[in-house]
Amino acid sequence: MQAFEREFTEYCGAEHGIGCSNGTDALTLAIGAFDFERGFEAIVPSHTFFATVESVVHAGGVPVMVDIDPKTYTLDPVKVGSAITDKTKVIIPVHIYGQCADMDPLLHAAGQRDIVVIEDAAQAHGATYKGKYAGSVGDAASFSFYFTKNLGAFGEAGFVTANSDKAFERLKLLRHHGHTGKFEHDLVGYNMRIDELQAAVLRHKLPGLDARNATRRDIADRYNKAFAPLGIVVPEAADYAGHNYHCYVIQCDRRDELVHHLSENRIGTGIHYKRPVHFQPAMKRIPHRAMPMPVTESVCSRCVTLPCFPELSDEQVSHVIDSVRGFMG
Ligand SMILES: Cc1ncc(COP(=O)(O)O)c(C=O)c1O
Repeated sequence: MQAFEREFTEYCGAEHGIGCSNGTDALTLAIGAFDFERGFEAIVPSHTFFATVESVVHAGGVPVMVDIDPKTYTLDPVKVGSAITDKTKVIIPVHIYGQCADMDPLLHAAGQRDIVVIEDAAQAHGATYKGKYAGSVGDAASFSFYFTKNLGAFGEAGFVTANSDKAFERLKLLRHHGHTGKFEHDLVGYNMRIDELQAAVLRHKLPGLDARNATRRDIADRYNKAFAPLGIVVPEAADYAGHNYHCYVIQCDRRDELVHHLSENRIGTGIHYKRPVHFQPAMKRIPHRAMPMPVTESVCSRCVTLPCFPELSDEQVSHVIDSVRGFMG
């Protein structure tokens, strides 16, 4: 376990890192590490997996959901600026689909007001921001090693990186019941330890991560070249970004018809995400704020995730391309 913790921390270029039970718990630990007072506001995207917002709610925070940039699908820094209040204590950019949010303007806005930035890097193993690996850019970061992720365990696991000694000390305590000695608990924590077996699996797979991400990028390049002339909105890697293509997502007006057509051609697709968090029924009972979301709502109604993973053969990639072409006429 410790060997994997050391190696993944080094891989990310972070100061500190600990393994934990899953990516949702990683978020809970990362937020807990900063000990915010209940009622704090957390700026988050609505275009994310529900866990990002859940972890804020469980920590006693109020999610303030902000729209995304139409090109990167990550938090729009300008809109974040206008959502900050005196109660804002943390910004949680999600490196969605494997592309980092534009971190510098977020860090700048946060730095002026003593706000913490926690990267939700659940989808961003090996993704880079201006040459730095996800997990080393913010004050802390959370990762998921759910088995479908670019670095996946054989079950559930997660990771938290932290770039300050203070946060790291608290993270270690929170993960393990606040234990400071065999019979002593200094704070009320959790059992969120990483499973040893999963750590061994991850340690074995980590050296292959960059090569596997490169294969995903090659597939994404093939798709982009084929689809852009068809009038499909294809993913764009920002100048600052090394994309890991955890999800290869296009936008299409006739999304449901395309999904049906591809399924008839034996091609599986996904939708990440169909219903933004601010429209989830659970949020009706939860204090929160949602800023205007034109980009999020448009993307959620049009996005489709196509197969993009290292095990795909050239023929399978060609089959996806031909099938999409067939649909677009
Ligand atoms: C953006 C994001 N955050 C958090 C999580 C939660 O991770 P886990 O499923 O390991 O709890 C996920 C999982 O897919 C995710 O995509």
